[in-house]
Amino acid sequence: MTVPNTHARCVILGTGSALPERRVSNEELSQTVDTSDSWITERTGIKFRHIASPDETTSSLAIASARNALDAAGLQGSDIDLIVLATATPDHTFPATATKVQAALGMTRGAAFDVAAVCSGFLYALSVADSMMRTGMASKALVIGAETFSRILDWEDRGTCVLFGDGAGAVVLGLETPAADDPSPRGILATQLHSDGRHHDLLYVDGGPSTTGTVGKVRMKGREVFRHAVVNLAEVLDQTLALQGLTSADIDWLVPHQANARILDATARKLGLSRSKVVVTVDTHANTSAASVPLALDTAVRDGRIQRGQLLVLEAMGGGLTWGAAIVRY
Ligand code: UT7
Repeated sequence: MTVPNTHARCVILGTGSALPERRVSNEELSQTVDTSDSWITERTGIKFRHIASPDETTSSLAIASARNALDAAGLQGSDIDLIVLATATPDHTFPATATKVQAALGMTRGAAFDVAAVCSGFLYALSVADSMMRTGMASKALVIGAETFSRILDWEDRGTCVLFGDGAGAVVLGLETPAADDPSPRGILATQLHSDGRHHDLLYVDGGPSTTGTVGKVRMKGREVFRHAVVNLAEVLDQTLALQGLTSADIDWLVPHQANARILDATARKLGLSRSKVVVTVDTHANTSAASVPLALDTAVRDGRIQRGQLLVLEAMGGGLTWGAAIVRY
């Protein structure tokens, strides 16, 4: 517990990620599903996805990504007093997968819990952690997006099974009070979250403990989700930038949810942003749901594209429908 400091900002101290060992190409998929490399590439931009083996789980990927992020931040699990883990594919119905990560990292204090907002999960988790930290409820947090979506795919439904992959990404957050004369202090400047439950049946899982008693499989009305994604993302990005008195010209990197290359292109076009400023990993990771934004972020940090001091805009949209954005000076 820390004393609330209204001037403090949450800063990203380190990023990390983890992918299952097995990488599956479109060609390999087309041997078991009625699809083709050309259809998947043209409609989605996806070439590969990583698929978890039976002994790779959401928690094992989350733990690996968290260790990676802690190393980057120069911290240990015992330094952390909050874990917020976004997932739609927890290890168990309960307890929260975050508590497994907590135990594995040797963290015995603070709080660890999951949030469920599917593909927008990381934005939700980031926003929750940011709010908790700035109100004094924690001082160092791990925010993780981790999924094994392959476990809930209907491998006979070519409209969904080619789109998703498994993985995890994490960030370590700390609190920093900017110097009074710092014109552009680093940290999370703003987050915006939205949901519209009227569209819950556009993207959902047809099972669950209180309905069928089974885990269920992913069902999606892809074309309709696509339409909502383009409109909602443009709107939330405009809104979040405007609240900070910023425009798209201020953005160094857009780090979007990686659902479909065509959605990324449309969003960049609507923002008037060059495609060279968009971090794209959908080609090699496919859609990893809550993991996709932190995986893309870590990829671009580690390959040197994202530099300290740059302005990043993160966004995602997914089942619920849920969507959100964050502006971060890295
Ligand atoms: O992360 C959460 C948010 N999710 C999204 O943002 C996903 C949004 N939606 C999409 O990305 C796209 O709608 C899809 C990639 C899912 C589908 O692309 P589309 O251009 O909307 O295609 P469609 O669903 O309208 O299907 C066009 C045709 C259909 O055939 P007919 O009816 O025209 O003969 C499908 O049966 O493509 C067929 N099709 C396929 N063909 C080969 C659907 N899936 C496949 C496939 N391989 N895998």
